Amino acid sequence: MASSSLNFPLFALSLILLSTSLTTTNATFSEEVSEAIALKRMEKTTHLHFYFHDILSGKNPTAVKIAGAKDTPVMAFGSTFMIDDPLTEGRELTSKLIGKAQGMYAFAAQNSLPEFLMVINYEFVEGKYNGSSFSLLGRNPVLNDVREMPVVGGSGLFRLARGYALAHTVWFDVKTKDTTVDYNVYLVHY
Ligand SMILES: *[C@@H]1O[C@H](CO)[C@@H](O)[C@H](O)[C@H]1NC(C)=O
Repeated sequence: MASSSLNFPLFALSLILLSTSLTTTNATFSEEVSEAIALKRMEKTTHLHFYFHDILSGKNPTAVKIAGAKDTPVMAFGSTFMIDDPLTEGRELTSKLIGKAQGMYAFAAQNSLPEFLMVINYEFVEGKYNGSSFSLLGRNPVLNDVREMPVVGGSGLFRLARGYALAHTVWFDVKTKDTTVDYNVYLVHY
């Protein structure tokens, strides 16, 4: 009993000495963690596929105009829309809701063809990605068949995400401007 109570402090002291000799002396308010992250985490690529529904018509639009230049049509250079658009698994709005696209798009081109500036967070509410999101910031020339837009970050399981989204319009109502867009997103994250 006496020997074990003597040995313990010696053992603890040797651990402290050992750890001190391994610790760098200048880590006060900053610390390089790249090696620790590389050891614990592997980079992976995730492909997401979903449909985006932009609804301007009816009593409960998911996209509303919040700004625009004076004396111009609803859709003109400067027109800015705030959206909270449903994302679904299937093409129909009635199919399973898997997330929301929240943010803004704005008419950013002076010429006659509509080109949006997209500043939008895509947040998921289903499965393992429930609560995770990615952020998109890009140029969207909406009349093109496929538009590529950069993903600039993410949260949750998509922390540190980077990647790109490929958007393809599958339905557009000329009268109401309601739109359904097919999204294929490739994310590199940890
Ligand atoms: C997603 O997460 C929220 C908040 O934690 C929770 O209320 C909800 O039930 C979850 N949804 C699914 C489908 O797991």
